Amino acid sequence: MDPIRWGILSTGNIANQFAKGLQVMDDAELVAVGSRSQEKADEFGDKYNVPHRHGNYDDLANDPDVDAIYIASPHSHHHEHMMLCLNAGKHVLCEKAFTLTADEAEECINLAQEKGLFLMEAMWTRFLPGIVTLREWLAAGVLGKIQYMRIEFSFKGNYNPQHRLWNPALGGGSLLDLGVYNVAMASMVLGLPDSVDSHILKAPTGIDQQTTIFFKYNDGAVATLMSGFDASLPMQTLIVGDKGWARIEHRFYEGKQITRQIHGQDAEVFEFPFESTGYQFEAAEVNAGIRAGKLESDIMPLSETLALMKLMDGVRHEWGVLYPVEQQA
Ligand SMILES: NC(=O)c1ccc[n+]([C@@H]2O[C@H](COP(=O)([O-])OP(=O)(O)OC[C@H]3O[C@@H](n4cnc5c(N)ncnc54)[C@H](OP(=O)(O)O)[C@@H]3O)[C@@H](O)[C@H]2O)c1
Repeated sequence: MDPIRWGILSTGNIANQFAKGLQVMDDAELVAVGSRSQEKADEFGDKYNVPHRHGNYDDLANDPDVDAIYIASPHSHHHEHMMLCLNAGKHVLCEKAFTLTADEAEECINLAQEKGLFLMEAMWTRFLPGIVTLREWLAAGVLGKIQYMRIEFSFKGNYNPQHRLWNPALGGGSLLDLGVYNVAMASMVLGLPDSVDSHILKAPTGIDQQTTIFFKYNDGAVATLMSGFDASLPMQTLIVGDKGWARIEHRFYEGKQITRQIHGQDAEVFEFPFESTGYQFEAAEVNAGIRAGKLESDIMPLSETLALMKLMDGVRHEWGVLYPVEQQA
């Protein structure tokens, strides 16, 4: 079986983590990197032994030796970069948040479908061993009917109006950077909510510095989701059912440790170590999808990505958090 030939668009923090993930895969080969600067492309290429080093994104997108491209630019540029790669006929795995707005997401999804290309939001958490096991517990009803969830994803960030986390022009804000994991986790466990309440605290740049969302379900279930740059929290996910509870411990998005207690029994701690950075699991989903001729993942479907983008648009708009692309519209 020939390996799927990957290209990476950008050379930042997460592009490096993804490259390390690809290194432990049997059926993936990192053949190309694209950067806005030739120097950075060469440096990245040396580090990960990448044969094709492009000093711009266009040449990466049009590299005939690449099957799939991982997009790891700031979310402000995901729409532009997805359109570029899809138009060049490449399958795409795009970092979260998928785009700035649901309209942008829809355009990319439509193009991928039209071109018959695989497209997926890089919600890597969903493919990690601990989270796969959690889904098995939920499917088997181990925790019973889920009634309550609490998810917190927050760290203390140093305010810097130029940095992508705080800068509206780069898609800043806690909801799109961190809260996107929260909404995806709640959606995975409980499905899409029937109604949503929220509260946002804004930074001086106008982005959401702290966002709290309350998901309500017609069957009585609720979830509270908090994301922010104000404090470094344990970053856990608590899932409470009528037969027991499970808590994904520190850095829930890595799913490495889950405590579970079934009523009447002692609490148990389950460990889910993995090699490398963990980004290989989402890449494996893309590889399998491409090989099967699929256009999307069943585990992280495009309909869910789009629905969650719409939900996040709604929360932001209620509190007047708008990106430049929305203000121009
Ligand atoms: N899955 C995860 O665990 C995870 C973790 C962190 C971040 N992310 C996501 O990954 C994306 C990138 O985050 P990051 O932390 O890797 O950011 P980063 O370190 O700032 O890297 C972003 C890269 O994007 C490229 N880029 C293109 N246009 C840019 C612009 N106008 N300004 C700045 N950089 C630009 C640059 O690469 P070149 O200079 O080489 O062109 C830059 O190195 C974001 O969407 C973020 O939400 C995901």
